[in-house]
Amino acid sequence: MTDALEIPETMLAVRARGPGQLYLDPTTPVPAVRSGYLLIRVMSVALNPSDYKRLAVFGEGTPHTMGCDVAGRVVLCGEDVNQDYRPGDRVAGLCYGMKPGDPSSGAFGQYALLKGALSMRVPEHVSDAEAATIAVGVNFAGQGTYLLARGPVPSVLIYGGATATGMIALQLARLSGCRVLTTCSPRNFQLVKALGAHEAFDYHDATGCGPAIRAATGDGLLYALDCVTVGDSQRICADALTARGSGVAKYTASLPDGDSFPRLDVQHGWTSGYSAFGEGTHLAGPLGEANAADLEFAARFWKLAAELLRQDRIRLGSLVHLRDGGLQGVPEGLSELRSGRVSAGKLVYVLQK
Ligand SMILES: NC(=O)c1ccc[n+]([C@@H]2O[C@H](COP(=O)([O-])OP(=O)(O)OC[C@H]3O[C@@H](n4cnc5c(N)ncnc54)[C@H](OP(=O)(O)O)[C@@H]3O)[C@@H](O)[C@H]2O)c1
Repeated sequence: MTDALEIPETMLAVRARGPGQLYLDPTTPVPAVRSGYLLIRVMSVALNPSDYKRLAVFGEGTPHTMGCDVAGRVVLCGEDVNQDYRPGDRVAGLCYGMKPGDPSSGAFGQYALLKGALSMRVPEHVSDAEAATIAVGVNFAGQGTYLLARGPVPSVLIYGGATATGMIALQLARLSGCRVLTTCSPRNFQLVKALGAHEAFDYHDATGCGPAIRAATGDGLLYALDCVTVGDSQRICADALTARGSGVAKYTASLPDGDSFPRLDVQHGWTSGYSAFGEGTHLAGPLGEANAADLEFAARFWKLAAELLRQDRIRLGSLVHLRDGGLQGVPEGLSELRSGRVSAGKLVYVLQK
């Protein structure tokens, strides 16, 4: 095994070099650590829909490393990292896979750069495979539920409780003392309740689901976080939210929600986890701009999430769907994920034990 402090010049990584074109590159330069960032030796990675969606539109040119969700060991700390890490510490965090103009920003390599503010210590009772499933979910749940709800809500709809993101969002909402309502397939009712949902509703009943949620909350639902944002999700959320007054209810989507939200009296929008980097994103419009406030929020929220993980109050075990092959398995995993066959968790690849 390579000594943690012995850093090679090149590494194996899964890279994108054009639309839909990914390949394994054993000559990828190991990223150079920079201010505010950690260099980690990657132990496990997890896949996200964003990986294959962004690959589909990735422009021809310089190859960029893919991947967002990662867990590993600290190798080097850059200056001004906002947490007190030492080489060898176990960490999990968020990478900006395929960040335009930053070819080494992704997670799917033997080494990765983590922004200190978007990282957390991994406690002993959490495996590397579990730790690799937390970053994207915690980051989106933080922005979507806490930054944008702007104030406590007595009940919340986590639409898509069996999405990987929803499985984390509903745990956090429950820990905040909310009454948590969620939607998923009936086969996942038990799972989402074990994670913290008070009630689960079948979204396949597109006309009955929303009114049933509204009835269950006595027409009092003020906030919906849509972790799906396709199919009937907007319609169901719109039907579920309270009709008690214009501008009272809010809806936040995980994808661009366009102008199609069916109710004009509901405040609606979407949020992208990429804005948490505070450095500008690949997205058009305001979400593409550098956003210091989102970074500042994320830095505080990640510390809170790390403490909850340390206290064993965030459970990641059920999110892990292990797949073989290390980085070599990632391309096949992305096809599996794209096919819609992954339910209630993330595909996780172990690089080293
Ligand atoms: N904006 C952001 O920062 C951000 C962050 C993370 C994810 N996302 C986006 O959010 C979406 C979800 O990502 P993910 O990784 O969490 O999902 P995922 O785990 O891949 O989602 C799979 C699950 O979605 C559920 N599902 C599918 N269609 C549904 C519908 N119409 N209504 C309710 N549930 C439905 C299924 O639940 P059942 O098996 O119970 O049917 C399935 O288990 C993706 O589009 C992703 O790109 C955005």
